[in-house]
Amino acid sequence: MNKQKKMPFVEALVEYKKDSFIPFHTPGHKIGQGAPHLLQQWMGPALPYDLGVMYALDDLHEPEGALQEAQDLTAKLYGADHCWFSINGTTALIEAMIMGTVGPGDSIIIPREAHRSVASGLVLSGATPIYMECEFHRRWGVPLGVTTEQAIATMEAHPEAKAIVLVYPNYYGIGVDIEGIVKAAHERDMIVLVDEAHGPHLPFHEDFPIEAIAAGADLVAQSTHKSLGSLTQTSWLLGKGDRINARRITQMHQMLQSTSPNYIFLASLDMARHQVLTEGKELLERTLRLSRQLREQLQTIKGVAIMDQESVGAMHYDITKVLIDVRDWGISGVEFEKLLRAQHIEVELVQAHHVLVLITIGDTEESIRQLVDSVRHIEKMVNRNPLNDNIYEASSDDSSRLPTPVVRLTPREAMYKKRERIELCYALHRISGETISYYPPGIPFLVGGEEITESVLQYIENRKALGYVPNGADDRDLHTIWVIEE
Ligand SMILES: Cc1ncc(COP(=O)(O)O)c(C=O)c1O
Repeated sequence: MNKQKKMPFVEALVEYKKDSFIPFHTPGHKIGQGAPHLLQQWMGPALPYDLGVMYALDDLHEPEGALQEAQDLTAKLYGADHCWFSINGTTALIEAMIMGTVGPGDSIIIPREAHRSVASGLVLSGATPIYMECEFHRRWGVPLGVTTEQAIATMEAHPEAKAIVLVYPNYYGIGVDIEGIVKAAHERDMIVLVDEAHGPHLPFHEDFPIEAIAAGADLVAQSTHKSLGSLTQTSWLLGKGDRINARRITQMHQMLQSTSPNYIFLASLDMARHQVLTEGKELLERTLRLSRQLREQLQTIKGVAIMDQESVGAMHYDITKVLIDVRDWGISGVEFEKLLRAQHIEVELVQAHHVLVLITIGDTEESIRQLVDSVRHIEKMVNRNPLNDNIYEASSDDSSRLPTPVVRLTPREAMYKKRERIELCYALHRISGETISYYPPGIPFLVGGEEITESVLQYIENRKALGYVPNGADDRDLHTIWVIEE
């Protein structure tokens, strides 16, 4: 049998259960018998698979049996040399790949639009960030990532950098010139780390953009749970080639994963690999068809605009990320989200005048129909009030643009320096002692060690006016902020 068609870790779990061992080990619920009644109702048949670390079953921290086999099959399927499973999401994998590549005194090139786990990776590694400015599309109010020219210019200006981080594709499905940037980085002996949280499905249909491993990246972290079928919290990291030190990545990975990883979570990764191998093409064919259908139907609704590859000028684009813009209704994304929630529609992300919905292998004709019907219904309710050009100029789409960072201390230095809490209105030009983002998309607009500039204060004011609540700040109203003592 084709080895890929096996589920080694799932099969090992099933075999283990058949042996009916009497458990004198963790977890305390002992194959479900001591679990709260409600948990038994919710998870009944799955509970006997929730076992403590069984050496008979392999260990995430030093895998050498069924789990290693499952990881190896995943690496092979994606054309990589190594794979590390994670039960702490892509967050822990991004931290591990940064820690395993750079350390104190090293520089690493980062795009401004990096997820906050990159900032955590900087604190943990002690490395110094060098930011690349990202392009921004004013009409749609979305980040476009770095251009190849910007990436090359940054690498030229900082030949000492050991590595470069790319986000590919971004939350909106927009992909930078991954092949061009990887090539330029490798020519300069830099290691390429890719946050491909939104791309584990890419290799399985030719209508998707090229995946980062195929484009030559060295380390690629993917949130399997975001667009494939594994459970939330589960991700995998892929590594390829001899630029990386796989053993060092393993050490960092071990530090960031629980010593009691949930076997059901790990099994769900094995199942997700098997699913995408055996049914992926068919499932993704349907996902693409539903995405096209949704786009076409929404376009016919008055005042609704749908972002696409051409309108945003992206080199790569994943059409399953559907941005629905209602600026012509004269309402904000936050207001639109409220109206959708009243129709029992929950979206992924809200910004400016749009919401973002994700279409995945879990969608059906029915879910698409309900979304389209809801938007049609809302269109009839709203008092159309198109924004005029002047308002457009000052519109909040532009206010989604992240301020340019001014790095004064490494994030690690800032984390351990003495801090004081002051009113935000007195914070201009002080060095931030906090890393703050709005979630989603979870991109910090201010990282510890960066200067609080005019544009940072302006960004906060704009977000506040739109009703956003920050993440990571001690004072969630942001009347006050922690800064480094002078
Ligand atoms: C671009 C990006 N990178 C990384 C992450 C973190 O992934 P996870 O939730 O799997 O930890 C996210 C999550 O939203 C993300 O959007």
